[in-house]
Amino acid sequence: MHVRDAVSSRYSCRAFLPTPIPEQTVRDIVERATRAPSAGNMQPWRIYAIAGERVEALKALLAPRMNELPKAEGGDYRIYPDPMEEPYRTRRFAVGELLYKSIGVAREDKPARYRQYARNFQFFGAPVGLFFAVERAHGVAQWADIGGYLQTVMLLARGYGLHTCPQQAWVSWHRTVRSFLDLPPELMIYSGMALGLADESAAINSWRSPREPLASWAAFSGF
Ligand SMILES: Cc1cc2nc3c(=O)[nH]c(=O)nc-3n(C[C@H](O)[C@H](O)[C@H](O)COP(=O)(O)O)c2cc1C
Repeated sequence: MHVRDAVSSRYSCRAFLPTPIPEQTVRDIVERATRAPSAGNMQPWRIYAIAGERVEALKALLAPRMNELPKAEGGDYRIYPDPMEEPYRTRRFAVGELLYKSIGVAREDKPARYRQYARNFQFFGAPVGLFFAVERAHGVAQWADIGGYLQTVMLLARGYGLHTCPQQAWVSWHRTVRSFLDLPPELMIYSGMALGLADESAAINSWRSPREPLASWAAFSGF
């Protein structure tokens, strides 16, 4: 697959087939992704990959807790700026509208929206879950490096015919995830990720998020 096709065919997949993914494939993807650059070649990424019984165990652990604690465990870090200013607010709103419209859920229908959001914690049916951890002591440059690593994983997955959904939603259950993964105290969860074969027939996978026109965010000179 050409890298251009890997980039253009990646999207946040929110319905997967249960087809298992061989361990070697997942190992290949996360290992090859270490060709991602990092400041000073620090390679600050830390990966926890789970599949099979481990995925089922995490889902089973979380399901009752989600009823007990609908607001989850709070974040280990702030994902969004507060307040979120324009134009970001409108962009975020727009993508939510597209997502819920694709499955026929009205904005006012909070229970149905929550049910869809809760699918995050089933990895959207994916057979593999990845967790990306970062050292608490590390700063924005290392977080950015891990972001680049994440994207490299997602593009490599396309090369294996697989799809992904990065999932910061897991941060809201950071205590449960931390104890489940036996994370050492110096690490924190940056993001989760669902990985597997896309369910191409699912309505939730039928739309694509928009992007702003180049002229609104890029400047070129001297060409
Ligand atoms: C680090 C990161 C975390 C994300 N977390 C979630 C998440 O928890 N759940 C979800 O459904 N989408 C999540 N997304 C997906 C974004 O909503 C998505 O990337 C954005 O709307 C653009 O759409 P696209 O990925 O389909 O191009 C996340 C994306 C990133 C980069």
